[in-house]
Amino acid sequence: MLVNMVKMMKEAAVADKAVPGFNVYGYEDAKMVIEVAEALNAPAILMTNKDAVAHMDVKYQAALYGAMGEDTDIPVCVHLDHGKDYALCAKAICAGYTSVMYDGSGLPLEENIRQTQEVVRLAHACAISVEAEIGCVGYNDPSIHAIAMYTDPAEAKQFAEETGVDALAVAVGTLHRMQVQDAKIQYERLEQIQELTDVPLVIHGSTGLTDDDLTKLAATSVAKVNIGTALRMAFGHTLREEIMADSQAFDRIKCFKRPMEAIKEVIHQKYKRLGW
Ligand code: G3H
Ligand code: ZN
Repeated sequence: MLVNMVKMMKEAAVADKAVPGFNVYGYEDAKMVIEVAEALNAPAILMTNKDAVAHMDVKYQAALYGAMGEDTDIPVCVHLDHGKDYALCAKAICAGYTSVMYDGSGLPLEENIRQTQEVVRLAHACAISVEAEIGCVGYNDPSIHAIAMYTDPAEAKQFAEETGVDALAVAVGTLHRMQVQDAKIQYERLEQIQELTDVPLVIHGSTGLTDDDLTKLAATSVAKVNIGTALRMAFGHTLREEIMADSQAFDRIKCFKRPMEAIKEVIHQKYKRLGW
């Protein structure tokens, strides 16, 4: 069933669980996420990021993932990840996404609040959930320009109260696109944020988290952890092996079989570490 993020976030925030939000780049990824979630009776969050929506318009993404979500009994949220402006969030909402992230993390606080409020007004009128970011999770990728900034707990409180977002992404030690699990989480900062806000929290760049950190975070008011690079690595590396092993291979459906199994394994591990 197709749902927004509100209920699953509230439930995960108070349970020793967090919902993994996976970046998906097509049918193959989404199918594996839904299959694992069905087996674990867990909710699923299918997220499309900037690269995904540049590759395929949000209206096609919404149609594909929306239909997949409607065809299962588990709750499935189709979420726009890192929407950089109101227009893209509005386009995704009109196309059928059930949730959007407005990412104003590069803006001064007051402007981030103002822009987020506008997206929340539109989204909530359509029963769509909204995630936004305070502080700024940087990138472990020199080709992407973003000034990383830890979340200030007092700002998180102000931001949550003034915007009414359903989920709040905070910068507490992760970086996007890490290929190794050596992020250093600032648990003290996270605790201060938790004490000041009721809103379910989101950790981005979660490929960089150790298995222990995933479990620890699931027990906090972190309700969602975003995972992208781990799946891209598993799919891409396995695809390379597959093609190298057979110089005559050209059938993509056959070539995708093992990469799909490889990501399924990673998806399963992440769910288990997050309390499912
Ligand atoms: O919004 C997406 C995530 O933050 C993914 O981060 O690719 O480093 O796992 P990651
Ligand atoms: Zn992110």
